[in-house]
Amino acid sequence: GQDGLAQTPPMGFNNWNATRCGPEFNEQLIKNTADLFVSKGLKDAGYEYINLDDCWAQPRRDRNGKLVPVPERFPNGMKALAEYVHSKGLKIGIYTSAGTKTCDRPRGFPGALGHEKSDAMQFAEWGIDYLKYDNCNNNGIDAKKRYQDMGNALKEASEATGHPIVYSVCEWGENKPWEWANGVGGHLWRTTYDILDNWDAMLRNAKQTLPLAQYAGPGRWNDPDMLEVGNGGMTDTEYRTHFSLWSIMAAPLLIGTDLRKATPATYEILGNREVIAVDQDPLGVQGSVVSSEDGRWVISKEMQDGSRTVALFNESDRPQRISTSAAEIGLGQAQGYTLRDLWKHRTYQSGGTVSATVPAHGTVLYRVSADRNWKSYPPAADLVLD
Ligand code: DGJ
Repeated sequence: GQDGLAQTPPMGFNNWNATRCGPEFNEQLIKNTADLFVSKGLKDAGYEYINLDDCWAQPRRDRNGKLVPVPERFPNGMKALAEYVHSKGLKIGIYTSAGTKTCDRPRGFPGALGHEKSDAMQFAEWGIDYLKYDNCNNNGIDAKKRYQDMGNALKEASEATGHPIVYSVCEWGENKPWEWANGVGGHLWRTTYDILDNWDAMLRNAKQTLPLAQYAGPGRWNDPDMLEVGNGGMTDTEYRTHFSLWSIMAAPLLIGTDLRKATPATYEILGNREVIAVDQDPLGVQGSVVSSEDGRWVISKEMQDGSRTVALFNESDRPQRISTSAAEIGLGQAQGYTLRDLWKHRTYQSGGTVSATVPAHGTVLYRVSADRNWKSYPPAADLVLD
């Protein structure tokens, strides 16, 4: 949309990867997550939206056609929950489907197909700030039309209530939403089917999204799905790769783990402000692949200050040396460069080589700047400055 929302990729939480439709998906989880965003510094690091996924609603609308929250999960209703989240200086998101029912089987709650205006209005009146609009049970109706109808409804509801709503088009990439979702009011669109908490699924989503860099920008983001960091199916090295790839792709950073149970390592990954700054860079460029031979990936992202963030990602099952140069990443004019390692938090000097020995499934993330204070460091050696 051209409405000034989501100028950087949305950051926050969504319960789906952590709870699916299990009983832990309830008011307590949402409130506790909001509290933890504040107490653990995640809010200060930029995380903002607390989003509810499928299974928040009763299978039937009420006699006025309104959606009803499941009382066992949300005994105080959505308006009160939104007020709680807002009182923490955070925002709240909700979910429905561009179909007759949502995806959960066999229950499924009513989708918004044919109810776009009243459902959008109900969300806006509750104080909802973000809608994820899924694609199940769509009766084969043209995707662009279905997502356009909700885009229009959200715009009307926003205007009526003065309350803007970020619009997440969860179409799974089936009909190339990168080509039309922004035009129907979407701020982000899924590029893939669902992520799972394993290396292959994470990597598949990354590989399907990397070629779509040209479609991303402020207010319009490719969405390779929510984060699995912390859920236990990958190693911390792999989760750092997951978080590095999402950040260099300027993907939405939606935490998908139950923060009440998260380890210090999980908080350290999700809270890495130097990596978050890559994702949230105001220029809003999605990184592009420079090379990918033998599982040695070099991905480069132009940053607003003229620097580049470079991911040296080792897809293979053995350690590999991965190299690129200042010239290859578009910084070929200077004599010397500063390389900031965004995971080790150390600074190096280089004469133009950007390289590292990267562990299996690991990623070294450097922010590379042309160095005006260059004197005469030995060009071959990487000089550690701190
Ligand atoms: C499919 C979506 O792609 C998932 O992210 C999740 O929202 C489920 N549906 C919920 O049923």
